[in-house]
Amino acid sequence: PAQPLAQPLAQPLAQPPPAALPPLEPPLGLLAELTHRCPLRCPYCSNPLELEQAARELSAAEWGRVFEEAAALGVLQLHLSGGEPAARRDLEAIVAHASRAGLYTNLITAGVSIDAARLAALAAAGLDHVQLSIQAPDAATSDRIGGMPGGHARKLAFARMVREAGLPLTVNAVLHRQNLDAVPEMIALALELGAGRLELAHVQYHGWAYRNRAALLPERGRLEAANAAIAAARAALRGRLAIDEVAPDYHARRPKACMGGWGRAVMVVSPSGAALPCHAAAELPGFTFPNVRDATLRDIWEGSDAFNRFRGTGWMPEPCRGCDRRERDWGGCRCQAFALTGDAAATDPACALSPHHGLLEAALAEAAASDGAFHYREMRRQPGATTPLSASS
Ligand code: SF4
Ligand code: FES
Repeated sequence: PAQPLAQPLAQPLAQPPPAALPPLEPPLGLLAELTHRCPLRCPYCSNPLELEQAARELSAAEWGRVFEEAAALGVLQLHLSGGEPAARRDLEAIVAHASRAGLYTNLITAGVSIDAARLAALAAAGLDHVQLSIQAPDAATSDRIGGMPGGHARKLAFARMVREAGLPLTVNAVLHRQNLDAVPEMIALALELGAGRLELAHVQYHGWAYRNRAALLPERGRLEAANAAIAAARAALRGRLAIDEVAPDYHARRPKACMGGWGRAVMVVSPSGAALPCHAAAELPGFTFPNVRDATLRDIWEGSDAFNRFRGTGWMPEPCRGCDRRERDWGGCRCQAFALTGDAAATDPACALSPHHGLLEAALAEAAASDGAFHYREMRRQPGATTPLSASS
C-alpha cells in the first residue's frame, strides 16, 4: 500500500475515527542520473564522495523501461542529469526512449562536449529543453571554478547552438562566495545567450560540496546585495527572462521544502539504478534503497521503506510535530540534518527552532576565516569508460 492503513478494523467505537490520509500523488518529475562521469570538477558538486563506476550504469534499454514505468506512474517531466549526461555515447537512444514514453525531456548539461551535429541528433530524437550550467560570467573565474581550461568558451558556443537549434534554454548557476558578486553579470549573460529562464541556486552542502563548505559559504552582506540585484532584475525583465532563486539555508531562519518534501514530488534514479527520494540520500545510513532493476517505479514510490520513511509528518520530532509549517516545508532537508547532526530524523538545523541551529553560525564563522581554497576531486580514467574523464574521490 501507498501509506499505512489509517485505522485498524477493531478500533474501539468510543474513539473518534482517525483522519483519512490523503491519497499519495505521483511524482511530477524523474531525475535520471545517467552517469557520474564528468569533464568538470566543480567544488560544489553534490554527487556523493564515492561515485558510481561506468560499468554499473543502466543501459539505454533499461532506462527505456524506467521511462515507460515513470509515464505510467504519472511522471510528466524527465531531467537527464549526471555527472555529464553527454558522457553517455548512447544519449540519443536514451532521449528517444524518453520521447516515445511521452515525457517532457530536459537535458541538464555542462555544455562543454556536445557539438552541433550531436545537438541536432538529440533534437531529432525528441529532446524538448536544455539546461546549461555556468560557473561565472567571465572565462577566468568560470574555468577556475569548473576546473576545466577553455570550458567557458565552449559553454557560450553551446548556448548559441541550442538557440539556433530552436530549443528552449535555461541557464543555471550555482551561487557561492566566489561568484555571488557577479549576479548582475550572470543575468546579463543569460539575456545575451537568449535564455528564457535563469536559475540561481545557492550551493546545497551535500557530497563533495560539504568538503568545500568553508570556501563556498557567502557572508550575509554580500548575499543581501545579490538578493537586491535579483529582485530589481526580476521586475525589470518581466516577460523577457524568468529568474528563479533557490535560497541559501545557512542564512535562513526556516528551511525550504527540500525536493518539495521527501517522497512527494520527485524521484531520483542513480546511474546504477538505485531509486532515491533525493540526489544526496545515498549517503544516509540505515537505508536500503531499492533498485529499478529489481522493482517497478510504482512499487518503489508507493511501497518502499526508503520512500515512506520521511514521507508526510508522522516521523517528525518536536518542534516540527506541533509546528504550523510542517506541511509547508515538510521538515526541511533530511540529508542536511544528517550531515550536520548525525541524525537524519533530526529537525533541520536551518530552522531557528532547531536546537542545532547554532551549528550554522559556527560554519559561517569558519568560512569567514577560510582562505577560500577549493578541494578538487582527483580524476582518473575508468577502464572501459567512453569519455576522457571519470571522477572518483
Ligand atoms: Fe519547519 Fe520543523 Fe522548523 Fe516548523 S519546526 S519551521 S516544521 S523545520
Ligand atoms: Fe536529501 Fe534534502 S538533499 S532530503
